[in-house]
Amino acid sequence: MARDFAYILIIDSDASSRNYLSVFLQQQGHRTLLAASGKEGLVFAWRDRPDIIIFDPAFPDIPAVDFVDRLRKDARTAQTVCIALAQREHFQERNALLAAGCNEYLVKSGEALQQLKKQIARALGQESSPSYRGKSIVFLSAKGGSGVSSLCANLATCVAEKQKEKTIVVVDLVLPIGSIANIVGYDGTINIVNVALQKDQTIPPAYFRENLPRIPAWRFALLAGAPDPEMANNLPADRVPAILEMLLKSYDYVFIDLGKSLSRISLPIIQQADLIVLILGTDRATATLTKITLDFLHARGVDAPKILAIQNRAVGLEGLTRAETEKMLGLNIAVTIPYMAGDFTFANNRHEPVVAGHTSEASILAVRQAAALVIESLERQKVKGRPLL
Ligand SMILES: Nc1ncnc2c1ncn2[C@@H]1O[C@H](COP(=O)(O)OP(=O)(O)O)[C@@H](O)[C@H]1O
Ligand SMILES: [Mg+2]
Repeated sequence: MARDFAYILIIDSDASSRNYLSVFLQQQGHRTLLAASGKEGLVFAWRDRPDIIIFDPAFPDIPAVDFVDRLRKDARTAQTVCIALAQREHFQERNALLAAGCNEYLVKSGEALQQLKKQIARALGQESSPSYRGKSIVFLSAKGGSGVSSLCANLATCVAEKQKEKTIVVVDLVLPIGSIANIVGYDGTINIVNVALQKDQTIPPAYFRENLPRIPAWRFALLAGAPDPEMANNLPADRVPAILEMLLKSYDYVFIDLGKSLSRISLPIIQQADLIVLILGTDRATATLTKITLDFLHARGVDAPKILAIQNRAVGLEGLTRAETEKMLGLNIAVTIPYMAGDFTFANNRHEPVVAGHTSEASILAVRQAAALVIESLERQKVKGRPLL
């Protein structure tokens, strides 16, 4: 677009709200077109082909999801930037609209107006390289079966519950077989391998928001792992950093399950992570392996404040105490997740977050506390810069 103004279609059944936004956008030099209902909006969108459509999803006539769906299915508006501007945050509506192909879901506020300005600048191609990047949170352990995948998924859900305005994607990088898809009950075909194999090397950030499956019960989008070793063998590992970089431009938080791997693929991801959640077991052998892992990470320049150590009693009540583990590792354990006997596996088998119920209060509390610590650690580091990938 070689213009410095945009044609913007505003659809809002509330006249004062519609006019207010129109005046605001005209003051920025843009041209506006106004509609009061979903059907009228569709007619104008197809007839006038605006650059951007901003709509309040509370249409008097048709469901907003159908509206977005019809825009996306019509070649004239399949690519048009489409932004929902809702009266108030409605989680299911947000999910449904984004899943239908809406580019953005904002809630009416002064802040939303600033975000609109940015979106418009981006649509006009004025923003050379969007500076926004989300944060990456990697999950790993020194040994399999420590609960890395379960906790990665469950903590992502808890963080999403606490910070409803954030967009979250969980990426399963465990090779040769990912397990998060299985935990959350996703049986579709989109996964890290076929995304990495895509011919088009420059996947736009919107691609992920529009195509990655959203898992409503878990409140995050998922980039599933390799479904089998055969497919894992085909993963072009050199594409992984670029994919993560794009995900960081598309989501506020990128949770990454690395399992127990410290490989050529995972090491740079760990080094560049904003937060490293290290899941600790309770047996001596695992603690020894963890010590080796930690020493290795320190030697590679990963600094201690970035590490959040969580002790997970995945196998039972016995084993090292928290104090013993801390002493062995020379590391503070932030929180201990109690042994939940069959509860955790039961929840996983039902594809439900453990915090969704069926679990003892104390365990849920510990998982929630761990999520709060993840948020706190990320906020604490806000001021510090970090190297680009
Ligand atoms: N705190 C816990 N209490 C009981 N079972 C747990 C706990 N944490 C994990 N588990 C169970 O341990 C098994 C391994 O967990 P998983 O997340 O797949 O580990 P990893 O990804 O480290 O291999 C799963 O069956 C899970 O349900
Ligand atoms: Mg796992």
